[in-house]
This record gives sequence, C-alpha cells and structure tokens, in this order.
Amino acid sequence: MVNQPHGGKLICRELTGKLRDEATRNAEKLPSLSVNSWVLSDLELIGVGGFSPLIGFMGQADYENVVEYTRLADGTIWSIPITLPASEEQAQKFNVGDQIALKGKDGILYGIITLEEKYAYDKKKEAFHIYGTTDAAHPGVKKVYEKGNIYLGGPITLLQRPDHSQFAAYYMDPAETRQMFTDLGWQTIVGFQTRNPVHRAHEYIQKTALEAVDGLLLNPLVGETKSDDIPADVRMKSYEVILKNYYVEDRVRLVIYPAAMRYAGPKEAILHAIVRKNYGCTHFIVGRDHAGVGDYYGTFDAQMLIGQYEEELGMQIFKFEHAFYCIVCENMASGKTCPHGKENHVHLSGTKVREMLRDGKRPPKEFSRPEVADVLIKGMQEK
Ligand code: ADX
Repeated sequence: MVNQPHGGKLICRELTGKLRDEATRNAEKLPSLSVNSWVLSDLELIGVGGFSPLIGFMGQADYENVVEYTRLADGTIWSIPITLPASEEQAQKFNVGDQIALKGKDGILYGIITLEEKYAYDKKKEAFHIYGTTDAAHPGVKKVYEKGNIYLGGPITLLQRPDHSQFAAYYMDPAETRQMFTDLGWQTIVGFQTRNPVHRAHEYIQKTALEAVDGLLLNPLVGETKSDDIPADVRMKSYEVILKNYYVEDRVRLVIYPAAMRYAGPKEAILHAIVRKNYGCTHFIVGRDHAGVGDYYGTFDAQMLIGQYEEELGMQIFKFEHAFYCIVCENMASGKTCPHGKENHVHLSGTKVREMLRDGKRPPKEFSRPEVADVLIKGMQEK
C-alpha cells in the first residue's frame, strides 16, 4: 500500500475548469505580487499536495515552530520554512484579508494567496537553525539574505502550474504517482532524491534498496539549483540512458521533483523524505552528505537527524555509508562490505568530474557508466 500523506490527508489547492477560469478573471482586479521561480515551485508543491499538510505559505506560528523545533505549530514534523517573502515597501501595499495575485516574472498569473499575516523575521536565526551556519557563502543562506524582509502568510490557490513541458513525459503530481504505484501493485516504494547526474554509487545504493522493496521512484530535483550544478535537462538524459541500459523497466519510475534546492543538508533530508511520502513512498534513501554543499555538514549528519524522526514520519529511511568501487573487490562496496584500504577505492570529486567532462574525457567506468559519461560530455559541450 502507498504511504499515508504527511499529516493524514493529501492536500489539493488547485482549481481547474470553470472554477479556475472564474478565479483567473476575478484576479485581474486584485493587487499583485511578482514572485521568482523559487516561490513558484513552492506554490506548485503546496497546490498539488507535495507539501501536504501545508495549505499555504507559512504564518508566523508555523514559521517560528519550524525554525526552532522542526515542527509546525500543531506538532507535525516539518523542517524547512515554506514562506512568501516581500519587501517592506511591497508588504505595506497589502492588508490582512486581501487576496493577492501571484504572478511570475513572465507576467503569468500562477495563483492567489489570501493574506492572513504579515510578519518580520530574523534572517540570521533562520540561517543558523535551518542551514546550520550564518555564512553568506552558503548558497541557501545567501538566498535567505537576499529575500525581502517581510513574510506574507496565508492559504493559496494554484491556478496555473509552472511550465514543465520540457520534461512532460516525467511530470506527475502526488495523486498521480500514488495511483501509479497502486496500479503497479507496489506495496513498498523507495524514493530517491538527486540533484546530480547518476553515477555508479547512486546506482549501487538504489539497487541495494530495490532488493528490499517492490519499486524505486527515481525523483530528481529539477527546480532551481546553484549555477555550477549540472543543468536538469542534461541530468535527465543521464537518467534516461541509465534506465534504458541498466534497470528493470517494471521496477523503476522516473518522475521529476519540481522543487528548488536549498542545500540545507540534514533539515532538507527531512523535507525530501516528507515530499516523497506524499508521492506515496514508504522508504527513502539518505546516503552520504545528503543535500550537502561544501564542508558545512558532517557526512552522516542528515542520517542522524532524520533517524530521530523516522518512526514518527512513518517511513523507513535506508541509510547508506559512502559507496565506491573497489578494484580489489571488483565491485561497488562501502566501508561495511569492503575490507581493503582507501588506495583501492575509485574516488573522484565533483569538480574533477566536471573538468573531465568539459574536456570531453570519460571518467573511469568504475565511477560512471560510459553511456552516462557520453551524454554528459555532449551536454556539457553544448552548454
Ligand atoms: S543531493 O544533494 O540530492 O543529496 P546527490 O544527487 O549527489 O545530492 O545525492 C543523492 C543521494 O545519493 C543522497 O541521498 C546522497 O546522500 C546519496 N549519495 C550520493 N553519493 C553517494 C555515495 N558515494 N555514497 C553513498 N551515498 C551517496
């Protein structure tokens, strides 16, 4: 059976058909706020239930509880604030009770918020509690510092999902993935988050997990990432080619996760698990330095934090040690299964791999499948 949605009920805040047309017409008269692609991805995920039980952008009580206690005001586990920032100048124009049209930078109307609260917040405190650092060089913290000083809280209505036509074949909302898993007869489903091209260690931990469950949801994040991450379109090609050549078709589904990447390490691992629970997953993979960046987090910090919430989350977390190829074992392995010294392990840094790909060189096949390397080389050279 697919998992229960987080908080017990799958949220749907989207209007369709006549109701949507009517709301869209009415919105012409509303004051509007122009929002960036990050906010739009949050709006979409609230609207389609990926962020269940949230029904809108967080008000102050939820926000403060999440920051300090990793819980919504009602006690439900939640690890990352989902907020709608505005400048003081913008916020002044809106009154509590107003409906505000949320428009993208493209001028398109994506949704409406009913304003319940406007509140100031402490950026350093948010950075410290969520990202574990106040360093502006951290990509997630940098975003916090760049935001407007006021958060607007209240329930939303989604009127238009952002355009995913580029990945149309791989777009499904939580209601659809849940139905798909039921149709496939999968009782146990493991979710896999990634923001990188697939390499052998990913494949190893996915397949090790798959030995214990019915199916794998390969769920790459395709929203905003930092500029030196490999672009989503190139990554998607790497997943396509590896699925075609190395996976059993009936055991894997590739679906995009349209969120922005926060790089919040342990706290983001919890959010990643919650969203996959809403997609129907019963299990979730957390490997080494999940959602990490630079040296901000310890290799297993994410596993330790999520481990504390595992039972309450109602998901089993598959926690993997650092996986690598060992030339003596002639196999993928980890510290748990390989007795040989580090000198026998194939290790490559992300920077090194990107450099090789840009130069048109395949990383060793022990690190990356050749089919994947070729896709990445082509992708990097085209960019
Ligand atoms: S993440 O930011 O989305 O976590 P990435 O795409 O690299 O980054 O990782 C996806 C998942 O694979 C995460 O759970 C991460 O911990 C895990 N992972 C990545 N590389 C390894 C590895 N070599 N050994 C074990 N787990 C790994």
